[in-house]
Amino acid sequence: MHSTTTKSQRSGGVIERYREFLPVSAATPVVSLGEGNTPLIYSPRLSERVGRRCEVFVKNEGLNPTGSFKDRGMTVAVSKAMERGTSALICASTGNTSASAAAYAARAGIPCVVILPAGKIATGKLVQAFTYGAKIVAIDGNFDDALRIVRELGDSGDLTIVNSINPDRIAGQKTAAFEIADEIGDAPDLHLLPVGNAGNVTAHWAGYREYQARERSTKLPEMIGFQAAGAAPIFYGHKIDKPETIASAIRIGNPASWKQARAVITDSRGAIDVVSDAEILAAQSWLAQHEGIFVEPASAASIAGFFKCCHSDDAAYSFEKIPRGSRIVCTVTGHGLKDPDVVIQRMKELKPVADTVTDVRRAIEL
Ligand code: F0G
Repeated sequence: MHSTTTKSQRSGGVIERYREFLPVSAATPVVSLGEGNTPLIYSPRLSERVGRRCEVFVKNEGLNPTGSFKDRGMTVAVSKAMERGTSALICASTGNTSASAAAYAARAGIPCVVILPAGKIATGKLVQAFTYGAKIVAIDGNFDDALRIVRELGDSGDLTIVNSINPDRIAGQKTAAFEIADEIGDAPDLHLLPVGNAGNVTAHWAGYREYQARERSTKLPEMIGFQAAGAAPIFYGHKIDKPETIASAIRIGNPASWKQARAVITDSRGAIDVVSDAEILAAQSWLAQHEGIFVEPASAASIAGFFKCCHSDDAAYSFEKIPRGSRIVCTVTGHGLKDPDVVIQRMKELKPVADTVTDVRRAIEL
C-alpha cells in the first residue's frame, strides 16, 4: 500500500494516537519522542501458573523512549507546559521521572531541574538525567522530602511541575489502559501493577473508566497494586518516615495520589498488597530467565505480586476463585538496564580461560 505518512505520524506517540481523549488542541505544540505502543506479551508460563484457561499478559512499559512508563505522561505534560509558555520544568524523582522530564525538556528546548534523594537513584537513571542535560540537585532526604520542596518551589515563579500531581501527566498515562483494551479487544479482568507515588494506578483506572464510558470497552478490571514491604504506606494505612527497599523507584513513604489509589482499589474491588525485596528480586530473575523480559526491581513488584496471588495463603487477593478464562495484565514499568547495580552484585566474577576450544568447552560444562 502506498504510504502517505506525514512527518508527525512517523514519530507519532500517544498524543497522535489518542488525541480525542487528551487535553490537547490544535494549538498545543506536540513534544513527543514516539512513546507508547509498547508490547503486550502473552505469557504461557504465567498463564499456566493460574490455570483454568486464564490468560496472562505482560505490558512492557520499559520499552518507552526513556525506558519507563513516565514518557506517556511526560509528552502530555511537556506539550501543555509549552502551550502555556513555561520557561522550565521541575520534578522530584526516584529516578525515572527525572530521566523522562530531562529528555522531553531537551526535546522542547527548555531547561529541566530535578531534585533527587542523594545516593538513592539507580545508576542508569542518573546517567540519563545527566546526559539529557538536566540541572540535578541531590538532597539529604528521601523522595517525599524532594516532592515537598518541589511543591513549594513550583508554586512560585514560572516553573512547571511535571510530577504526577500535574493532571496532564495522569491524562497521558491513561493511554496505557487504552492500548491494552485496544489490543485484547476489551479491558482485562485483572490488572496488576507496582505502586509508588500511586499516579500510575490512578491513571490506568481513569483510562479504563473513560474507555468504558465511551463504549470502547465493556468492562472494568479489578486493580491490584503492590508496594515494597518496607515502603508500603497505603497497605499499612500510615505514612512511612524512612521507607526502605531495593526497588528504589518505589521507595516512597507518603504517596501523592494516596487517596486516589485507595478509591481505585475500592471502586474496582481490587486490592493493595506488599511484596518483600527477596520476592521482588526473585521475580526479576524469573521474568528475565523465563520470558526474556529484563525489568528493574520496582517493575518486578507486579510479577512478585502475581506469584503471591497464585500461591500465598496470606495474599490480599487470591486467584483461586477467579473465573475460568480470566485475562490478567501485569504491567512492568521500567527497563532492567536502568538499575544494573543490584544484578552486578549477584553476578559471579568472570575469570578468563585460555583461548582454546578445549578450555572453552570445559568452561561451558555442557
Ligand atoms: N515503577 C517504576 C519503575 C517507577 O519509576 C515508579 C515511580 C513506579 C513503578 C510507581 O509508579 O509512582 O505512579 O505509583 N517512579 C517515580 C519517579 C516516583 O520519580 O520516577 P507510581
